[in-house]
Amino acid sequence: MALPGAVNRYLLLMAQEHLEFRLPEIKSLLSLFGGQFTSSQETYGKSPFWILSIPSEDIARNLMKRTVCAKSIFELWGHGKSPEELYSSLKNYPVDKMVPFLHSDSTYKIKIHTFNKTLTQEEKVKRIDALEFLPFEGKVNLKKPQHIFSILEDYGLDPNCIPENPHNIYFGRWIADGQRELIESYSVKKRHFIGNTSMDAGLSFIMANHGKVKENDIVFDPFVGTGGLLIASAHFGAYVYGTDIDYNTVHGLGKASRKNQKWRGPDENIRANLRQYGLEKYYLDVLVSDASKPSWRKGTYFDAVITDPPYGIRESTRRTGSQKEIPKGIEKCPESHVPVSLSYHLSDMFFDLLNFAAETLVLGGRLVYWLPVYTPEYTEEMVPWHPCLKLISNCEQKLSSHTSRRLITMEKVKEFENRDQYSHLLSDHFLPYQGHNSFREKYFSGVTKRIAKEEKSNQE
Ligand SMILES: C[S@@+](CC[C@H](N)C(=O)[O-])C[C@H]1O[C@@H](n2cnc3c(N)ncnc32)[C@H](O)[C@@H]1O
Repeated sequence: MALPGAVNRYLLLMAQEHLEFRLPEIKSLLSLFGGQFTSSQETYGKSPFWILSIPSEDIARNLMKRTVCAKSIFELWGHGKSPEELYSSLKNYPVDKMVPFLHSDSTYKIKIHTFNKTLTQEEKVKRIDALEFLPFEGKVNLKKPQHIFSILEDYGLDPNCIPENPHNIYFGRWIADGQRELIESYSVKKRHFIGNTSMDAGLSFIMANHGKVKENDIVFDPFVGTGGLLIASAHFGAYVYGTDIDYNTVHGLGKASRKNQKWRGPDENIRANLRQYGLEKYYLDVLVSDASKPSWRKGTYFDAVITDPPYGIRESTRRTGSQKEIPKGIEKCPESHVPVSLSYHLSDMFFDLLNFAAETLVLGGRLVYWLPVYTPEYTEEMVPWHPCLKLISNCEQKLSSHTSRRLITMEKVKEFENRDQYSHLLSDHFLPYQGHNSFREKYFSGVTKRIAKEEKSNQE
């Protein structure tokens, strides 16, 4: 039994996908469950093996009920750079911590996991036999053991240079697996209602985790599209709400995005998507509304704002206009005319989004959104700033050789005051934002042909 306040060492086996998104996910989830991220390991860069300290096994289990970036977690009993180092580290692990899992009434099995190398059955058996010195008293049960132990060997990251011996060897008691299966079960391929820009399931769950979404939260997506981000938040027990400027998207009308289907069928909408996953009770509503002119009364409503604004690549960045905004020289419409649509500059869109989040998030609530960037010109100063929001993480996903999108996570740290809505204009970040406005032009400069081809095949 761990002493109160004692911190145990755990081994996380991370998935080798979306590498930059992993650390912010684990940090966000640990802070959600009352554990801090502490580790003696210096870099988490690309390795799938992370050693970290967590105050309790409960926190470790909670972490695994949420993560899509980690595959499994183990209570770490020993670690070394050679078999000898591993064995001496295991001999130093307190026996009283081992005994509850090794006593004569228990059943167990030992598994071997290698990274960047495949072992023969004979090699595996040899490694298991070498652990004879551990006080195993239970019976081996390969089908349904009470306890599973693992030897994990790390042969580095270079598939073209696999060493004879592993760089690191770990031994631990398996505690739980993460939620990787959600990526498949919520795959957009099997989803009822999709659009050209529906967010990939894995990334949607990562965004909800960066946003520290939890049960009974209210989560809002101002650029909701087909509601991919709402689905992930609802899966974690949050009530969800969205808006989109596009009437057809909100009402599930118009052209279908699926191959071999011309028009959207009846009931192809966000509510039906939530129903498909048994999450309908978390649906609050979706409205047709322009994010540049939010129709909310002043107040704090949301625990998280999680969104993927348009980049102008597959969908236009538009906002509703008004008679006043029509440039001189253009004939004005009669008073009764529906407002015209104006182009919505990306930099204005991000200012509006940050201001909106600063006003409507609860203190401690998070804004998670994608920022498209032209990589040759990107600098950290470009990331939009707001006096009420603290930058938590900024992770890159490459889109092409010259463009990427960055997943930005911010936390509300100060109550919004009226004067805050213009303070970003005084900041050093203001001018670099303007660079985002020509993102579309820059994006197409290199990839016009590929996108045109993809869009053509989408329409077929
Ligand atoms: C990248 S898509 C969002 C995709 C969404 N995450 C999904 O999973 O389907 C951006 C959405 O923003 C909407 N949009 C564009 N301009 C808008 C505006 N001014 N206000 C609200 N929505 C807008 C577009 O209609 C589009 O559906």
